Amino acid sequence: MTQSTDAEGLPRRDRLAAEVVALRSRQARLEQALDITRLLAAEVKLDVLLPLIATKTTEALAADRATIYLVDHERQELWTRAVSKLEIQEIRLPLGTGLAGHVAKTGVTLLIPDCYQDPRFDKTWDQKTGYRTRSMLLMPMDNSQGDRLGVFQVINKHNGAAFDYEDLTYLKAIAASAAIALENAQLYEAQRESFVSLVTTLASTVDARDRETSGHSQRVAASSEILARKLGLEGDYVECIRLAGLLHDYGKIGVSDAVLTKAGRPTEAEWEQLKAHPRFTHDILANIKFLRGFEDIPIIAGQHHERLDGKGYPDGLHDADLTLGGRILAVADVYDALRMKRYYKPSFPIEQALAIIKQDAGQALDFDVVQALEASIPEIEAAVGHLRPGTEEETELGQDMPVQEEQAPTMAPNGAATGSVAAGKAELG
Ligand SMILES: [Fe+2]
Repeated sequence: MTQSTDAEGLPRRDRLAAEVVALRSRQARLEQALDITRLLAAEVKLDVLLPLIATKTTEALAADRATIYLVDHERQELWTRAVSKLEIQEIRLPLGTGLAGHVAKTGVTLLIPDCYQDPRFDKTWDQKTGYRTRSMLLMPMDNSQGDRLGVFQVINKHNGAAFDYEDLTYLKAIAASAAIALENAQLYEAQRESFVSLVTTLASTVDARDRETSGHSQRVAASSEILARKLGLEGDYVECIRLAGLLHDYGKIGVSDAVLTKAGRPTEAEWEQLKAHPRFTHDILANIKFLRGFEDIPIIAGQHHERLDGKGYPDGLHDADLTLGGRILAVADVYDALRMKRYYKPSFPIEQALAIIKQDAGQALDFDVVQALEASIPEIEAAVGHLRPGTEEETELGQDMPVQEEQAPTMAPNGAATGSVAAGKAELG
């Protein structure tokens, strides 16, 4: 039986088989591109997105490495973030220099089989590391309005081959979805920066009202962040706790100046007003539309005077009702209040402050958080020391005044309203 052949004289069956293989490979690449698109669309954080795009591009094009450079139009530079020695480093290049800079400026796509033959290639990095850059594919990345967002740089096709037009077409498909994802991430980052600066400004307005508690919100925020990390938390929840720390006393704007800054024991009515400040904090913040991931800030901030044993305020919540963020803030708040001088108490040295707090561990304050505090003292002191006005003098005063439970001064009008030693020392925290 004679086998039929096509126009090029190849057996028809072989030709069909080859086409099926090519179609399957194209389909697999399309599916891979779709997967990448879905992955990129789900990520809004630039620090995650940049390495994610790079990794996926490297895999998809069977290359050694890919880098995504972004254009900083203001500084006329290209920049990227690379992870090295577990640190995120920012790399910046002047626009127009080197291959990536050239592509960013001109918008051309480059397929280079051997970079050493191209005078625009900068060999410095190779000379430093001993790596040999051979082939390279560079492509500009533009948004839908045609504005240049950045440049794709893919290095060294595997098996010593050069990148081809199929790679280029494939990279174009990834670049389109990467551009959308990057623009979203940049918008999210800008929104987040403006949100954080707004929160920081709000917090400073509260601290500014009372010289004695000046810097308190910043110190509680920094300490809470350290405690959260020590407890193994990460990502947005840590930032959520830090921001709740910055805002925890915001409700003090609902307390009159006369009561807030009164140098003496408050009356029953004044004390009720003071105790309401965490509720004001919660209610004011609950009206704000927080960014995704930060919705718990009002609840966390509103719980900073609650105690595990239900003797806190404003709601007398118990253990099971308290968020981890609220427990962290409670410990950070008490620690800061103990370390600072208030008109009704000296500044306590570290050991005394810690000893007082440890008496409440597992009863009023969360045991694990107190343990985290003990393990984090040097880090906390290093982070917040510069935010304490006149600490040296106050610490000396504290050292001269050993504290016993019955001596612990309290802001409560009758002294009995406070649930614990530490809580009694930190009523205005
Ligand atoms: Fe407070």
